Formats: sequence, C-alpha cells, structure tokens
Amino acid sequence: MDNPGNSYSQALKQIAKTANSALPLRKALNTVAKNTAKAIKAAGCSIMLLNPQKAHLDIIAAHGLSDLYLRKGALNVHKSLPEIMQGKAVAIVDVSQDKRAQYPEAAEMEGICSILGAPLLQKGEVVGEIRIYSHEPKHFSQADKDFLSTVANIVAIALEKSELYRVLKADHEESVTKRRKLTETPKLPSSSLRPSSFSHTSEEEFAKLLDFYRIEWLYEPRSFPLTWQDNKVTEMFTPDFYLPELDLYIELTTLKQSLITQKNRKLRRLKGLYPEVNIKLLNKSDYLRLLAKYGYGPLGETKVEGVNQVLFSHTQIQRRTRALAKRISYNYRGHQLVLIGILKGVVCFMSDLMQHISLPLTVDFMAISYYGSNTEPAVKITKDLDTSIAGLDVLMVEDIVDTGMTLNYVLNHLSSHSPASLRVCTLLDKRVRRLIDVPLDYIGFEIPDEFVVGYGLDYRGEYRNLSFIGALNPELIEKGRRE
Ligand code: IMP
Repeated sequence: MDNPGNSYSQALKQIAKTANSALPLRKALNTVAKNTAKAIKAAGCSIMLLNPQKAHLDIIAAHGLSDLYLRKGALNVHKSLPEIMQGKAVAIVDVSQDKRAQYPEAAEMEGICSILGAPLLQKGEVVGEIRIYSHEPKHFSQADKDFLSTVANIVAIALEKSELYRVLKADHEESVTKRRKLTETPKLPSSSLRPSSFSHTSEEEFAKLLDFYRIEWLYEPRSFPLTWQDNKVTEMFTPDFYLPELDLYIELTTLKQSLITQKNRKLRRLKGLYPEVNIKLLNKSDYLRLLAKYGYGPLGETKVEGVNQVLFSHTQIQRRTRALAKRISYNYRGHQLVLIGILKGVVCFMSDLMQHISLPLTVDFMAISYYGSNTEPAVKITKDLDTSIAGLDVLMVEDIVDTGMTLNYVLNHLSSHSPASLRVCTLLDKRVRRLIDVPLDYIGFEIPDEFVVGYGLDYRGEYRNLSFIGALNPELIEKGRRE
C-alpha cells in the first residue's frame, strides 16, 4: 500500500538535491514547485517572496498555474491567508467560501478549490511563502502541513545562499526594478500594463483587434537579455505583445526588409537562449491570418457581420465551462447523473460541459416551440425525453435564461416525472430581464440586457457557429422587426 510518509521522504530527498544543485535559482525553484505539487498530489504550487515594504508577495517560481492566474494582481499579506505571516501553515478547503482568499474569482476561473500555504522562515522571520493549489476540495492532513513546512525550510536556505536573494533584500526601489528584469516576470495585472500610447500605429490597431475579440494581451511585458559583457546586459529584446491565452509573444513588423533581417537575427538568438519561449514575428497580413486560425477577424470564415462586440472569447468560455464541470463532478460524486438540454441553442455548451464532467452520465434532449402573442407567449414541447428520469439526478443544462419562462415551464414538466433531484446549470444569465424567478444552481456568466449570438445561440437561425459569444447590433434586430 502507498505510504504517504515514505513518498514524502522520497520527495524531500529529491527537493533538497534540486535546491542544492548548480541549477540557476529560478529554474531550481520551479523544479521544487513541480515536485512539491506532485508529492501532495496537487495541481499547482507557487513560491513567493515578501516585497521590501513587507506588504505584498511576489511570485518568483511556480508550477501548474496559468499565466493569467499568476498575473491576477499583487497578493496583499493582510488579505491573502494572513495567518501565514504569523509563521503558521494554513489551509483553505473551499476558496469560494473563505474570506481569507484574496482573489476567489480568479481562483474559480483557474479551477482552484483548496490551498495550503506555509511560511518561508529565516531566523524566525517570515520572508515569503510556499503555497500549493488543489482542483479538488482537499482536507490537508498534519503530514501534508509538515511536508510543506519542510520544503519551505529548504527553499528558505536556498534563497539565503543566492545572489538573487541578496538583490531582493536590498531595501530600495532600484533593486526591485532590477529584480523584475532579472526574474523577467511582470507581476502587475494586464490593465496596469496597458500603455498610454503605442510606439507604432500598427501596434495600436493590433491591440484594438485583440480587445474586440476579448483576447487577453500585455504590451511589452518582458525584456529578454540577449548579450552580456562582464555580467552586464548589453543587448535586450522586448517583444511588442504577449498573449497569455496562447502563451505567445508577438513582435509586429513592417514589410521593410532591413528591419525584418535585424529582427530575425534577434529572434534566432532569443530562441537559442530561451527555447521554452513561444514567439512569432508578424506583419499585418500574418496577424490577420493568425486571428483567422482562431475563428476571428476579417479572414475568419464564420459570420461576424452584425456583431457589435465580443462578450466572451472562446478561451474564456472554455475556462468557465471547465470550472463548472469540475464543481458539478464534485457535487454529484457517487451519483448517476442525467443531463437534459433544450435544442438547439445548448448544443455547444452541452458538448463541452459533458466532456469535462468526470462521472458516468447520460444525456437527453427536448425541443420546444413558442406560440401566442408578444404579451402572452406560450411554450409547447415538440420533442419530449427519450427515457424516463424517475428516481434519477437530473441537471437541466441551458444556454441562456432570459425571462425565465421557458425554464419555468420545462422544470414544471420535468418535476412531474419524479426525478430524485432537479437542478439547473446555465451558461448565461440575463438576470435583468427576469419575469419568473427560477432557481439557478450553476451559472457561467451574468450578462447585461443585450441580444447575444454565437457558441450555439442564434439570431434567425444564423451565428450559431461562432466560436465566441457576441452582442448583436441592436439596429440589425430593429431592422429585422420592421421586415
Ligand atoms: P426565456 O425568456 O428565459 O424563456 O428564454 C427563452 C429562450 O430565448 C432561450 O432559451 C434562448 O433560446 C432564447 N434567447 C433569450 N435571449 C437570447 C439571446 O440573447 N440570444 C439568443 N437567444 C436568446
């Protein structure tokens, strides 16, 4: 049988060896983070240092966390698991319900449910933290806490030895800036990295296009040292954009051959020095083609004409759907689940949601039609369920809840078939338009009073195949009404 004490002692052996190796500190700490997460069977791990003012924690190494999560914003020591600062290991079982979590929404988007943190102590003083993140709710044992505290001690010793740590300890702003360049990872949320002006109009145009399609971007977030002399950096390369969702750096270029040759040379050097970095040199037609690859932009093949604004990008929808599926999988563990959807708007959401639910389940669909007048609309079932739901746990999956009339009608119909339980998961909640109060158990996004299309939702039968959700131009709807 698996003996956790034994696997922890094996992991500690490996972690101590890595921390004491000749690897550059950041690389060593990233490996320590990876091995720590693996040993506790957690999804991710971060190692953080207190800033000189002892107000914030900066992440210096991590494993298993997305770029977006790492850039969620500064961690305030008084708001985020504050007891760690008193030198204790602290656990949070459900981040969404615990006030000690500073960014519960970011954690939910990342699929994080539980966190365990331990202080990095040097001569009894807290200098940083190590945290591990679990996607499943986890009640951490004393053995887990002891293990993490021991890793914290190893990390603290490694830090004390390091040159980087000496730089970090220097208590003035200059050293913090220098460290940012050394560690090369921006810690600010993307909004604060937005420039007041761009150095080129093509960059501004590209940023607008990315904004329209809700693709996250950072402007010149990182400089890569390319050449050194006497330990001083003599040449750097700062790509124009970083797209965290695609983990891609982008350097825009004009068609001027001399500039392309020069940039290509720098890029070759960068790729040689930083093989893990994904970077592309793009001119305008290249980036339009790149957007088209993701179904966006003027060259994208799906119809976007009439869409005023993208509300949720494909990546945002996928991330949210995965988080909902995780919560559903946990809440229904040990149960036989039936998912029921109403055709046709729900097809995309149902397809993605069910693929991420890690339980045995069955799926059924209903179809309905609307009749009556504008003031007294009525609903009729045109296709009923194929199988009985009596005594089963039913989750009604909806694309959008607007007035609530459809859902209310369908829930009444389903309850009359005596399911063991009946709950609702909707991707979109247009709450401001609600006429009937229907209970919603799982909600993807709340949206304003806009007519939305894409990802299964239609306007007059069109737009269902857009990979994102966008707001339709109200003039188009008005025109349609007049016709
Ligand atoms: P209800 O008003 O809550 O009954 O919503 C009825 C149905 O109207 C939903 O299931 C959708 O099919 C459709 N619907 C409501 N709002 C929108 C929208 O913004 N875009 C596309 N379909 C919508």
